[in-house]
Amino acid sequence: MPKRTAAEGPGPQEPDNTSPAAGEDYADRHREYEGRHRADPEGLSVWATAQSTGPVQRRGRYVPESVKHPARMLPAIAAHAIGAYTQSGDLVLDPMCGIGTTLVEAVHAGRDAFGIEYEPQWSNIADANIRHAHDQGASGRASVIRGDATRLMSLVPKALTGQVALVVTSPPYGPTVHGLVRPGEGGVVKYDDRYNDGEDKGNLAYRDLTGLADGFAQILGGCATLLRPGGVVIVTARPWRKRGELVDLPSAVIAAGLRAGLVPIERCIALLAAVRDGHLVARPSFFQLQQVRKARAGGVPMHLIAHEDVLVFAKGTSPEDGTEVVA
Ligand SMILES: C[S@@+](CC[C@H](N)C(=O)[O-])C[C@H]1O[C@@H](n2cnc3c(N)ncnc32)[C@H](O)[C@@H]1O
Repeated sequence: MPKRTAAEGPGPQEPDNTSPAAGEDYADRHREYEGRHRADPEGLSVWATAQSTGPVQRRGRYVPESVKHPARMLPAIAAHAIGAYTQSGDLVLDPMCGIGTTLVEAVHAGRDAFGIEYEPQWSNIADANIRHAHDQGASGRASVIRGDATRLMSLVPKALTGQVALVVTSPPYGPTVHGLVRPGEGGVVKYDDRYNDGEDKGNLAYRDLTGLADGFAQILGGCATLLRPGGVVIVTARPWRKRGELVDLPSAVIAAGLRAGLVPIERCIALLAAVRDGHLVARPSFFQLQQVRKARAGGVPMHLIAHEDVLVFAKGTSPEDGTEVVA
């Protein structure tokens, strides 16, 4: 490990204003910190959540129909969040649970969980995934409610108010996502790239960014009510591009959280690329790659998106008396 020079400045978690005690070598102390980070990877704000591909992470753990969902969360992201922020027996919620990734990872970790999903085709697969997890010996309990999470408090029993230790969720981004591809007439065709086959505005995927943010703020408001003291809400959101233009979904999510009475407390990165021998190995979809290659060929130095923002919120407190508040 080379010594840092003054020009490089301190590393993010190194003590920057203390000088080594007499006789102590700075490089030794530095090595000690490095070692600690390696021994405790959960302490890093960069989550190495794509060391294996999504299909490999799901193989045998999820029912095969799960691949039909157009925007599944990587299981390692949900598992990391649950491991970092909850204890055995805690209650976990995903108000937009899709095929139930958060719920499956929660029950495998001995947590209880419940989810809401608008589309019956996905909630049915979530049910099947939970049954499959139990067949494999998962000890937590879980259930899925089919409904519109913007009306969260009308869907769940009042007794759950103040009981949830952790919310893990991700909003849909756009009506069509990358999905899967196969050869077709005149080139490559997409399939499994939509949340439903209609224009149902109840599914937030069909709203523009403002509409999505409004609906998501309502959902987060319900989550805040269900959160127990000290509970945490984690939202993963990917910056994405619509016709080449950046759609800053993470910033919209932070604004929605603030409107819901939540306070951002941390911002991490979940890698969508593997770390191998000191290099990042990305696994882009065909269409992502095509978009970036086109942009670069046209002289625009566009980057391939290889991460999701992980936005961590807690309940806000009242400035008057320090009690927790919700919108
Ligand atoms: C990004 S996906 C979440 C995927 C999920 N994390 C998984 O791994 O399967 C967002 C989900 O929110 C659902 N959704 C959209 N609008 C909703 C609403 N108003 N209430 C509940 N779920 C909704 C979509 O159908 C979609 O399945």
